Amino acid sequence: MQLPFTFPSPLATDRLVLRFMATDDVDDIHAYQSREDVSRYLMYPPRDRAQVSEKVAQHAQARTLSVDGDYWQIAVTLDDRVIGDVYFTVKSVEQQTGEIGWTLHPDFHGRGFMTEAAGAVLGVGFDGIGLRRIIADLDPRNVSSAALCRRLGMRQEAHFVEDLWSKGEWTDTAIYALLAREWARRG
Ligand SMILES: CC(C)(COP(=O)(O)OP(=O)(O)OC[C@H]1O[C@@H](n2cnc3c(N)ncnc32)[C@H](O)[C@@H]1OP(=O)(O)O)[C@@H](O)C(=O)NCCC(=O)NCCS
Repeated sequence: MQLPFTFPSPLATDRLVLRFMATDDVDDIHAYQSREDVSRYLMYPPRDRAQVSEKVAQHAQARTLSVDGDYWQIAVTLDDRVIGDVYFTVKSVEQQTGEIGWTLHPDFHGRGFMTEAAGAVLGVGFDGIGLRRIIADLDPRNVSSAALCRRLGMRQEAHFVEDLWSKGEWTDTAIYALLAREWARRG
């Protein structure tokens, strides 16, 4: 594996540019992170502008993955506007495993933008870093996120029942995963 590894920001895809967050992005990011519908299945409640500003300052510095728990929170931009973000972390260097997550502004749903952005980040994880396995962890009621996993070629491997206390209730967790050899064989 190639660690430490710095995200190749800016990274252009067909329609998007993926790059590190910057302080100028706070309004764009607040526009979706402040929404109740967006945060429904996220680990955090809707954020106010000050909270977004604090997080963006932290995320802007999270550029290099070296050890377990290091992360990127990459801005997904369309025509210079941040329309969402992709989270990526090294879950275990020893197990050569990463984890991916995503959030997209609802105005931009339904056009394949997150499939494109997350696919590019999976490419960095597998082809750049050389990870063996990348997982996604989600609430199975989050059907859009589960469908995105499947579009990316990930397979559901587990469904844990009421394993997580989240937002005032016990919730289930689904685990999706993809191996490097499966990524290499994708059509
Ligand atoms: C999860 C989330 C990112 C999925 O967004 P999405 O818009 O459904 O995903 P994509 O951007 O990949 O778009 C896929 C849709 O565009 C369509 N599409 C159009 N052009 C496409 C293309 N070129 N490639 C792929 N899909 C395309 C697909 O058919 C699909 O539509 P469908 O939902 O009607 O089947 C979004 O629902 C979200 O941000 N939710 C809130 C945050 C959240 O819960 N995050 C996950 C926590 S685990």
